[in-house]
Amino acid sequence: MRLLVFSAEKQWEVKRILGECGKKKILCMAVGPKNSGKISPREFDAVLFRAIRGHAKQAISLARRAAAAGLVVVDEKLARGIDRSKLWNYALFRKAGLFVPKTILLTKKSVPKLAGFSGQKIVVKPLFGKRGEGLQLVGKGDTKKLRRLATGGKYMAQEFVPIKKEIRVMVIGGKVVGGVSKQTGNWVHNFYRGAKPVKARLTEKMKSVCLRAARAVQTEIAGIDLALTPRGMFVLEANRSPGFKAFEKGTGKNVAGIIVGYIAGRI
Ligand SMILES: Nc1ncnc2c1ncn2[C@@H]1O[C@H](COP(=O)(O)OP(=O)(O)O)[C@@H](O)[C@H]1O
Ligand SMILES: [Mg+2]
Repeated sequence: MRLLVFSAEKQWEVKRILGECGKKKILCMAVGPKNSGKISPREFDAVLFRAIRGHAKQAISLARRAAAAGLVVVDEKLARGIDRSKLWNYALFRKAGLFVPKTILLTKKSVPKLAGFSGQKIVVKPLFGKRGEGLQLVGKGDTKKLRRLATGGKYMAQEFVPIKKEIRVMVIGGKVVGGVSKQTGNWVHNFYRGAKPVKARLTEKMKSVCLRAARAVQTEIAGIDLALTPRGMFVLEANRSPGFKAFEKGTGKNVAGIIVGYIAGRI
């Protein structure tokens, strides 16, 4: 197998994937958005997309060229130009019958509708956010602030769900790899915000919800955030390019190796 990894960031995870390929004598190369236009897809069998934020044009162009040349493209949906925004993913989760917090695009018109959301606070989240960046908790009555954030169509507004425990579940190629719980001192539970990974026991229900969530958004390598609340289990998001440093530490699983094995299997 000859594997190309596209990433707009120098990630620890990309290094781990290159390292696993080295161990298995698989030819593997990483490319960023600056040089991806010069790549000749025929020199590879598969291309894996990691970070593409801010460089989606270059990534999608490479994905399309690679798919046309017959390569395995992970995620395949990148070559088809399917919307990757969090809001669209929520629509797909709902369509699949999954339990998600009430969510709408934050616009001046939608602000009055937030009165119908449960609780006193509204979560305002960037449509293309990551690592817990840019999230805000805004009082439902603070319509001035909500209207200010509503310009530009960059945010979605979400019902605040009281999380008792949050679990990150990794799903690779339609299989659950495992789960770790994550908790910080505030309401945003991300590993990038200091949450420590603790291996979590997953129930059959959790596993089936996560498999359905990954399938609903056509994400082959998915980091699912599951929120356990007194109101039940919510799917918070499905990351297409999940970090796995904390996950490997918490579970002892070789995620990089599983990813490489999955792509090799697809070829
Ligand atoms: N609707 C919500 N109610 C309560 N907490 C939330 C809600 N949405 C997000 N959070 C908290 O914020 C974290 C980050 O949100 P998330 O949607 O996963 O975005 P990101 O891509 O930045 O990780 C979640 O893991 C969760 O701990
Ligand atoms: Mg998250």
